[in-house]
Amino acid sequence: MLIFKQNMAKKIGQAVSSCFPGTALSDDEIFAMLEYPPDVTMGDLALPCFRLSKALHRSPMDIAKALAEAIQSEELESVNVAGGYLNFKISKTAFAARVAGDIEARGETYGSPMTGEGKTVVLDYSSPNVAKPFHIGHLGTTVIGHSLKLLHEFAGYKCVGINYLGDWGTQFGKLIVAYKKWGNKEEIEKGGVDSLVSLYVRINNEIKAEEDASVLGLPEEEAKAKKHSDLADASRAEFAKLEHQDEENLALWRWFVDVSLKEYQKTYKLLNIEFDSYKGESFYTDKMPAQVQKLRDMGLLTLDDGASIVNLDAYGMPVCLILKRDGSTLYPTRDIAAAVYRQNTYHFDKAIYVTSAAQSLHFAQWFKVVELMGYDWYDKLVHVPYGTVSINGAKLATRTGNVILLKDLFAEAISRVYDITSEKHKDPVECQQIAEKVGVGAIIFYYLSNNRMRDINFMMEDALSFDGNTGPYAQYTFARTCSVLEKTQGDHHVTDAPLSDADFALAKTLSLFPERISQALADYEPSVVTRYILDLCAAFNAFYHDSKILSCEDEKLRESRIALTAATNRVLKTALHLICMQTPEKI
Ligand code: ARG
Repeated sequence: MLIFKQNMAKKIGQAVSSCFPGTALSDDEIFAMLEYPPDVTMGDLALPCFRLSKALHRSPMDIAKALAEAIQSEELESVNVAGGYLNFKISKTAFAARVAGDIEARGETYGSPMTGEGKTVVLDYSSPNVAKPFHIGHLGTTVIGHSLKLLHEFAGYKCVGINYLGDWGTQFGKLIVAYKKWGNKEEIEKGGVDSLVSLYVRINNEIKAEEDASVLGLPEEEAKAKKHSDLADASRAEFAKLEHQDEENLALWRWFVDVSLKEYQKTYKLLNIEFDSYKGESFYTDKMPAQVQKLRDMGLLTLDDGASIVNLDAYGMPVCLILKRDGSTLYPTRDIAAAVYRQNTYHFDKAIYVTSAAQSLHFAQWFKVVELMGYDWYDKLVHVPYGTVSINGAKLATRTGNVILLKDLFAEAISRVYDITSEKHKDPVECQQIAEKVGVGAIIFYYLSNNRMRDINFMMEDALSFDGNTGPYAQYTFARTCSVLEKTQGDHHVTDAPLSDADFALAKTLSLFPERISQALADYEPSVVTRYILDLCAAFNAFYHDSKILSCEDEKLRESRIALTAATNRVLKTALHLICMQTPEKI
């Protein structure tokens, strides 16, 4: 549609200058005025002529009439005047032939705007915190982040996917104490992150119990100041040792990180995600002092109750904390050091950070600090936030341990799909493979169906249904195109046989793909692709039911329809891939 729209903008521009001498409008200006009519029986494209009245000093009706006579194009079946609108109808066969030909010629690059050539994007996403649960709250950063990476790769950018693991911090002091007290090697080797998490939960509970016991019976105010826990003291001491490179603690820390990573990688493998870098928070420990010094030298740091901060009053934001009273660094300090390192290492044209909207202020603050520090790439930093997730109506509560782990969510979806597919397929290995692709895909698709800022309530039943607007339905439609094509041979082209409305509607939907990709990229919004997939599936299924394909008696028409099926197959494959979905040929 884009090309048709561009061509029409050009034709209209020429007609405007010939009908109304002395007034010239750029193609871009006209392009921006063109609309897709809500009802296709009116036309495929419309020019609301009232938008031209001011420039041309005529009534919309007069303009429409004059232009209708002046515009001629092979691509057009008709031009009609309706009210102040000029409605264009495309020549169906010429249009479908061009779209299918374009898809065939460009293959897997069809739809790519190619805007990223020679440019680098770094994407910071997923980034779970070691020894804390990798739960459904991370679904957003993981799949939105990866989809944005795939979209940028598709547009020709060189992409660096970074998993900024939360692998440093006081929690490791607690974990070391808990491990030495209650843990054992075999159990952790067997239980993985779950065992680490239980150790972590246990020590937090015991610290709380010790603190409560230490101030039993004291009034609240006094209790706050006096509460004490030996375990908390021990944890701080162990973390201090770790910071001072104590061999034993370093070895334990590395082991905890490895155990966690191994398990996250199982989930990434299911999702088909690979990262280019796993440099986590710990990597930046020795890179922070230089940035803190720079802030100090530039006079940007102020002392506030012993802490070092950057005052952001002038920008309507609370202060950005750089150093705590005891001199230890904070989350923003580390992010600033990491951004400088990434700019020096990758020379990025864009750095994208995908996190929950709860962190929006954090990013706005440290982005501002980077700007104040005089780094001229400050405007290449982009935060992409997303809303909250609840499951079957229940909000997540990390503190009470009421979390749904990502791996459990996928496992459940896979096992439910397995039960359904095993009725049809005999081979259990094949069945498991399909169940993994469909089960995981169902969750991704469901999640990416909504605008990312929307808070969503996850309903497993809905996600897995084969009849709704779901992942299984989209994959099933793809498999349907495969089964048609399996029975054909060679390349196919749209011929000059007259097409039905359903054939043409499919060609039109296929032609919209490039526009949707550009929009998804501009808005950092993978859901634009998901919704496009649904449009394409709806158009293909209507075509499949209305039009005879392989059984069509008219040979030329059959040829055109096979070509349209092949084009749908190509575009669905690309589009599903861009939202991290697999495309099994059979379901
Ligand atoms: N580990 C953090 C968390 O789980 C997310 C890190 C996001 N990336 C960043 N550069 N701050 O909340």
